Amino acid sequence: MSDDRVAIFDTTLRDGEQSPGCSMNLEEKLRMARQLEALGVDIIEAGFPVASEDDFAAVREVARTCRTPIIAALCRTTAIDIERAWEALSDAARPRIHTFVATSDIHLQHKLQKTRPEVLEMARKAVRLAKSFTEDVEFSAEDATRSDLDYLCEIIEAVIDEGATVVNIPDTVGYTIPSEYHHIISTLKQRVRNIENATISVHCHNDLGLGVANSLAAISAGARQIECTINGIGERAGNASLEEVVMAMRVRRDLMPYKNNIVTEEIYRSSQTLSNITGVLVQPNKAIVGKNAFAHEAGIHQHGVLKNRITYEIMTPESVGVKTNSIVLGKHSGRHALNKKYEEMGYQLARPELDKAYKLFTKLADQKKEIFEEDLMAILQDGIAQIPEAYKLRVLQATAGTSKNATALVTLGDDLGERTESAVGDGPVNAAFSAIDKITGMEGRLMDYTVRAITQGTDAVGEVFVHVEFENASYTGKAASTDIVDASVRAYLNALNKAVYAKARRKSESNEEISIATPLPKE
Ligand code: KIV
Ligand code: ZN
Repeated sequence: MSDDRVAIFDTTLRDGEQSPGCSMNLEEKLRMARQLEALGVDIIEAGFPVASEDDFAAVREVARTCRTPIIAALCRTTAIDIERAWEALSDAARPRIHTFVATSDIHLQHKLQKTRPEVLEMARKAVRLAKSFTEDVEFSAEDATRSDLDYLCEIIEAVIDEGATVVNIPDTVGYTIPSEYHHIISTLKQRVRNIENATISVHCHNDLGLGVANSLAAISAGARQIECTINGIGERAGNASLEEVVMAMRVRRDLMPYKNNIVTEEIYRSSQTLSNITGVLVQPNKAIVGKNAFAHEAGIHQHGVLKNRITYEIMTPESVGVKTNSIVLGKHSGRHALNKKYEEMGYQLARPELDKAYKLFTKLADQKKEIFEEDLMAILQDGIAQIPEAYKLRVLQATAGTSKNATALVTLGDDLGERTESAVGDGPVNAAFSAIDKITGMEGRLMDYTVRAITQGTDAVGEVFVHVEFENASYTGKAASTDIVDASVRAYLNALNKAVYAKARRKSESNEEISIATPLPKE
């Protein structure tokens, strides 16, 4: 790799997925991974295979699906972890084993109960074993920024001797500041004898809001890989945000003349894809991808921008893939126009997908006159890339008002039959959820509920996200409709169907006979 090239290592599917409310099922991880590949990231960290069967499956499937980027799997330093990571990566076109152990005295004493020489030996052995499987091995010194610098240099030199090709210096708890981090990376460059044989990587958490600044300081000191996530999701306050580090390097190329492979026009779509999958919305003032990132409110600013955008815009919305909200299609648009529009938006639909999308499109066009790109995205993400629907909504009737309790009547069906229940509740949404629980016999605990308008006007499409716990596991659900109660019920069913699907999958993995279309309970 040339000396001015910075590799972008995306850990949205691993560190990002560890953040509350951001868990994804296999299909969702694959959808996100495909988008990361389109974005041009160099490395996708797809999971921590030993952590669970789901993580293992995600790494294996991402490795089979995404052939251009390197696929990394995380593991501790034990042989079991490393072997499991390698098993998950076995079909990857470009596999990387990423092994880590903590190096700070705080972690050594309180977490690992190990001495420095013991940890050094664990690191050496892990890299040696990983190296027996694959050439590309990354070593991370967890909590590096609170580690003794002499010891950090010693362990980094040792793992490079064992063949580590990338050495990561994580700011695990988001503790460092740019000048200090610059010093740590410079010291490694000066003092580690064999440092030229490995790429220095940085991985910054955002507990003090310095994840991006620290990453860039490390690059100026000689690091050449940045670990980051879309929308900055990750443990606690998150990780350095991919879109921010990439756009900072692009906008301030005069001060940071580094190259990377990111197709910046795919940034906004990547951000939206993630927030659509997880239901975790991007804060409006979030740099680069927030709703207000390119909005000019003050009159004096608007005036300037109208005269010349350069007055108040340091980058164009188009450069990150944000389009102005133009009407794209209407009631009379045909299947061909729809297909063409999806192609323009970067999606290639197979015939059955297009048929399904067109059906949903005509239904929506009957409800609202103008169809925007956001509507088409909602159709794509809600209606098409779906998990099997054990329960389908057939009928929903809800009443609400100030004088009496809200009621809802719900009919659910599957291939085997239909069943109707009614319930009362605090509001029509609550009543409908109770009716669904009665029908399915699965009691959901609503942990989070968000509604937002995704298009403008009184006939806007509203999108509902829910996080629901079924049998102690949390599932996200999402749906869009011009009717909020309808969208809420469909979102709840989406989460419920994921729970049914996850259960079926677990059974199939333990070789029991399963049916995805779980029959409705008998009356
Ligand atoms: O924050 C951290 O230290 C990590 C490592 C496992 C790389 O996520
Ligand atoms: Zn981390």
